[in-house]
Amino acid sequence: MSTLSTSLPGGTWTLGDLTVTRFGYGAMQLAGPGVMGPPTDHDSALAVLREVVGLGITHIDTAHAYGPRVTNQLIHEALHPYPESLHIVTKVGATRDEHGGWPAARRPEDLRRAVHENLETLGLEVLDLVNLRLGDAQGPQPGSLAEPFETLVELQRQGLIRHLGVSNATAAQIAEARAIAPIVCVQNMYNLAYRHDDKLIDELAEEGIAYVPFFPLGGFSPLQSSALSAVAARLDATPMSVALAWLLQRSPNILLIPGTSSVAHLRENVAGAGLSLSDGELAELDKIGL
Ligand SMILES: NC(=O)c1ccc[n+]([C@@H]2O[C@H](COP(=O)([O-])OP(=O)(O)OC[C@H]3O[C@@H](n4cnc5c(N)ncnc54)[C@H](OP(=O)(O)O)[C@@H]3O)[C@@H](O)[C@H]2O)c1
Repeated sequence: MSTLSTSLPGGTWTLGDLTVTRFGYGAMQLAGPGVMGPPTDHDSALAVLREVVGLGITHIDTAHAYGPRVTNQLIHEALHPYPESLHIVTKVGATRDEHGGWPAARRPEDLRRAVHENLETLGLEVLDLVNLRLGDAQGPQPGSLAEPFETLVELQRQGLIRHLGVSNATAAQIAEARAIAPIVCVQNMYNLAYRHDDKLIDELAEEGIAYVPFFPLGGFSPLQSSALSAVAARLDATPMSVALAWLLQRSPNILLIPGTSSVAHLRENVAGAGLSLSDGELAELDKIGL
């Protein structure tokens, strides 16, 4: 097992045998408007990725569908050859159409192709962690994941994938996946204002499985709340910092993957996520999403 010491807020977490900083980075929006390339500013995108590593962050979240290909290519251009401590987490199960939509692509041949495309664009021989993305743009949808998940397990047995996770998944699908093979994380939508997975997070924490909230800052519609702004103003902090600090304090198995296309925002988020929120502030913030 690798070890890692960090001064980043939240410390570290271990995904299977991979130690990552709980403060990670979500690279999706680097691909450009609508997550369809080209990026708004190619050089700035590279600078953000280099700053991510420079700050000591060791967990980057991506997908071949971002751009498509563009985010993976940027990661490769900015950071390859990768530092040993860096773990790039990718996902498969969706593709892109000509309108920028995200149709499902979960047939065995789609998943095999997607894993190979991720390996190729990232310049890797093994993917550290692959999430099977389920559901649709409306969120998780019921239904068996057995066939697509077993396809990924087969690719794992072939040595192309180290660890598996699921994304946009229901509790039943998570249980079904775990009955087939171990998973090290669940990546679902969750933030201060959107808390459908509260119970799930606590259950996963008991099992030692990471919960990686996507849209931790609200995604394409950044979080806005008068209660959040009030707490932030009192602490002389930004609302985004408070939202990230709240997540880190919410549960030890929560890993952050906030996105940004700005080095200044990245630094601000890292500095701010270490805020210590009092019980009173936590209670005030808890009311936002309940
Ligand atoms: N599994 C899935 O289905 C799924 C779905 C969606 C996303 N994801 C993953 O989740 C990651 C995070 O999602 P996301 O990036 O879309 O949403 P997010 O992290 O919730 O929010 C990103 C937005 O917040 C803004 N922002 C960040 N820091 C800020 C600051 N300090 N001040 C003001 N604005 C700030 C960014 O704008 P600037 O660029 O201007 O900073 C960007 O518009 C993605 O990168 C992706 O890897 C997964």
